[in-house]
Amino acid sequence: MAIRSLKDLPLAGRRVFCRVDFNVPLDGSTITDDTRIRESLPTIEHILAEGGRLVLASHLGRPKGKRVPELTLEPAAERLAELLGVGEVVLTDDCIGDGARKVVGDLRDGQVALLENLRFHAAEEKNDESFARELAKLCDVYVNDAFGSSHRAHASVQALPRLVGERGAGFLLERELAALDKLRGEVARPYVAVLGGAKVSDKIGVIEALLSKVDVLVIGGAMANTFLAAQGHSLGASLVEDDKLALARAVVQKAEAKGVDLLVPTDLRTGRALDDAVAQDAGCDVEEGRMALDIGPESAKRFADVVRRAGSVFWNGPMGLFENDAFAGGTRAVAEAMAACPGFTVVGGGDSVAAVQQAGLASKYGHVSTGGGASLEYLEGRKLPGVEALR
Ligand code: 3PG
Repeated sequence: MAIRSLKDLPLAGRRVFCRVDFNVPLDGSTITDDTRIRESLPTIEHILAEGGRLVLASHLGRPKGKRVPELTLEPAAERLAELLGVGEVVLTDDCIGDGARKVVGDLRDGQVALLENLRFHAAEEKNDESFARELAKLCDVYVNDAFGSSHRAHASVQALPRLVGERGAGFLLERELAALDKLRGEVARPYVAVLGGAKVSDKIGVIEALLSKVDVLVIGGAMANTFLAAQGHSLGASLVEDDKLALARAVVQKAEAKGVDLLVPTDLRTGRALDDAVAQDAGCDVEEGRMALDIGPESAKRFADVVRRAGSVFWNGPMGLFENDAFAGGTRAVAEAMAACPGFTVVGGGDSVAAVQQAGLASKYGHVSTGGGASLEYLEGRKLPGVEALR
């Protein structure tokens, strides 16, 4: 069954429950990157302009069913009010119950309220039906604009929409699926995937799926250490998944069998500690007491050359500890090469997106995904529970 678009849903005078992903990075109570809030603005503004009574709902962090004051959505409510140019966005004390029903009941056409963190209730992550029924009391129409959460079979994402007849996809969700569908279908070649981040084990699903699809697979970040260790290099104090060496070897063999060019670093940039301000370049063998914290300059150049000449690129995961300027070179090189690539470019995942934003390059990309895990699972070819529940 086809998914209805927000633009075809009845909104005027209705309580429109919109699941958004306001799971934004915080430093104390300061939002360090508000991309996810800004990307949902077209949906939010459309619902308000059409006279909907907008009820926004999101999770923030992983409070594990407890009320954790640091994980209140208050900063998101404040940021949203600024972006909408309104004095205040009311935040309910709780996402269900009499208080929430009262706030929602008082909304007039074109007004908005935000429900407090859904994950303050363990029932949210359990996809609990009765919790979903409580949320359903707050809505006439359901909209999913939370692409970043759509791989989670949670109550507000999966159980709830099934209880609401009028349901559909928000503009952010539609944009994300359209962009990623381009990489799931016939792609412009060469198709280059760049994967980074800490662990091979986190990305093995997408690695396996991409090996049947891409021409070049570039591996950087700490996960590359495991590939280098599997080749027999000594990695000093670097992060290595010792129990995944066989897995790394199997990936190399599979890439060979499929004719995929698998690129791992040929040099590394090392430090003595994560906050080391002085970097030292090395080959692929790291001295005792030092750790690989970035790919080296030769690898950065090699990776950037491949990316710049690609017909399509998908990138997830930084090449090093880019938060520390001494180890940001590899990530920056990939970010800049992608910005210069005339092909179709997609970046996903909190850290790599933050690096692209920091470098001011986001507008030069084909698509900047608000989803980390969600974009990986979708590219793997898996069905996302939040998307399927809209059918
Ligand atoms: C994300 O940041 O990837 C989404 O908001 C989902 O969060 P989660 O990984 O805690 O479920």
